[in-house]
Amino acid sequence: MRDRITEVIISRLKEMTSEWGVELTPEQIDLPNPPDASMGDYAINLPMKLAKHARQAPIKIAERIAGLLSTETEWFSLVTVAPPGYVNLTLAESAIERMLSEAGHDIYASLKREGEPQMVVVDYSGVNISKQMHVGHLRSTIIGDVIARVLEARGENVIRQNHLGDWGLPIAMILWGTRPVLREIKARGGDLFEELPLSRLEDLYRKATTTYKENPEAREEIRRILVDLQAGDKELVDDWHTITRLSMEEVYRIYQILSVTLTEKDERGESFYRDMLADTVAALDDCGILVESEGAKCVFFEQFKARDGSPLPVMVQKSDGGFNYATFDLAAVRHCVDELEADRIIYVTDSRQALHFAQIFAVAEACGWTNPDNRHVQLDHVMFGAVLGEDGKPLKTRSGENVKLTDLLQEAVDRAYAVVNEKNPDLPEDYKQYVARAVGIGAVKYADLSHDRNNDYVFAWDRMLALTGNTAPYLQYAHARICSIFRKGGIAEESIEGPFAIRHPAERALALKLLELPEVAEAVEADLRPHILCNYLYELATVFSSFYDQCPVLTAESEEIRNSRLFLCRIVQSAMSTGLGLLGIEAPREM
Ligand code: ARG
Repeated sequence: MRDRITEVIISRLKEMTSEWGVELTPEQIDLPNPPDASMGDYAINLPMKLAKHARQAPIKIAERIAGLLSTETEWFSLVTVAPPGYVNLTLAESAIERMLSEAGHDIYASLKREGEPQMVVVDYSGVNISKQMHVGHLRSTIIGDVIARVLEARGENVIRQNHLGDWGLPIAMILWGTRPVLREIKARGGDLFEELPLSRLEDLYRKATTTYKENPEAREEIRRILVDLQAGDKELVDDWHTITRLSMEEVYRIYQILSVTLTEKDERGESFYRDMLADTVAALDDCGILVESEGAKCVFFEQFKARDGSPLPVMVQKSDGGFNYATFDLAAVRHCVDELEADRIIYVTDSRQALHFAQIFAVAEACGWTNPDNRHVQLDHVMFGAVLGEDGKPLKTRSGENVKLTDLLQEAVDRAYAVVNEKNPDLPEDYKQYVARAVGIGAVKYADLSHDRNNDYVFAWDRMLALTGNTAPYLQYAHARICSIFRKGGIAEESIEGPFAIRHPAERALALKLLELPEVAEAVEADLRPHILCNYLYELATVFSSFYDQCPVLTAESEEIRNSRLFLCRIVQSAMSTGLGLLGIEAPREM
């Protein structure tokens, strides 16, 4: 909506500003909301910016602008001036009606931006083979998935990447630890997926790490395995592949429960870059930034120092020739830029990796890898805080262990079932179970997404499952309520056509709110903060609820008013299900 209004303003004012040698750009017209809604819908602060060029007081310029814009009656019903030089605009109702009718029902399509799509890589989830996902992986998975969905809706070409921890010493350890078991099961023709679930792999891996520390003989064997695996030993590579599949089996089960869009074809684990590592180190050497320090190859940058002033190097090759976490990521940057032709690469991990990514970005920039043939590749680290228990400490079970994700999600569904059962006991049993899943999983995801990701947040069951407040169930409920209006009225949604006409302030407020959604998607794309979308949907639900309290729909005083209000309801329903869809949350039609 702001872009349309900006266009109108520019075309009306450009003659005036050219007198002063100023060429107006959309960026100069930011259209904040006035401090008080009674002053209008938007404010123009341009006069303050133009005063110098025009050699006039801002208030004088504001008066002239107001004069010009008040002739645009198709757009503005009221144009006023406020000191020291603001122009306040009130949109004409006909303009709101027109824009909303034009936007139509296809809310998803209205989110697409104009212009060439960007190629964007979103690196998220990044689970480690033979280890259960921890809460950090859960947050990365949930937040990354929303970012990928929003960017797709904006029209970008999105490449999802799951940077698995699937190579190097930890893998050698798990191979060493599982080899006898794998062989035995295979010999017997047993079912690997049955007998080696992730929890068992994790046990074997844990034991292997202890043995590695304590037993020099085993350590030698594990080192041997690592060398042979890296050299491509057929049997080891086969085992490695088997372990990866076994381990990912459980991960995909969780993705499915969470409605996360990652699939096997998005796997770009560390192993994917294994043959690019030596090259990457050589390229760093060519850049002239590689330093040898105690046998290891490192990059030192002035800006990365510990508190005590000691340098924090980026280590890319250990003294034994092995490569580091950073080397994989540097190889990945080069791959994304050169092979995938990425315009933007987004990494989603917890804030403990802030230094790691700051270093990767600095190295990539220093070597010019982010500026291939005059293109600039934007690198973003989307970081997030921790999940805390209600005691304010990192989330643990009562007995002090790390919370198992599957248990947590099951508890969410069970608790949601109780809520649904109480609210609507007459729903058919399988539908109740479907709603319980949608609400329970939605609540967990939404609790995460609705907080500014930079902050830690407290995981509180009662709050996230509440039917009021900024929660998934509240939004889902608003959506279901609209569906029930259509159901009660025996109205097929596709047949709702309007025309839409504003007759009540609550209708005007709701229509204006609806028109904001594309700007919200734009803001999420720019800032990579899903909570902006959550806040919007919460506001939309609130504005809808106040409309519905004041404006009867099915029992409206005339056919015309009823049709117009049904039209509004239909767009709210579509905006709500689209918005929840971008958050990867289901919107049941009945609750
Ligand atoms: N596997 C890593 C971890 O568990 C996360 C990977 C994140 N992505 C990346 N490109 N480094 O910490």
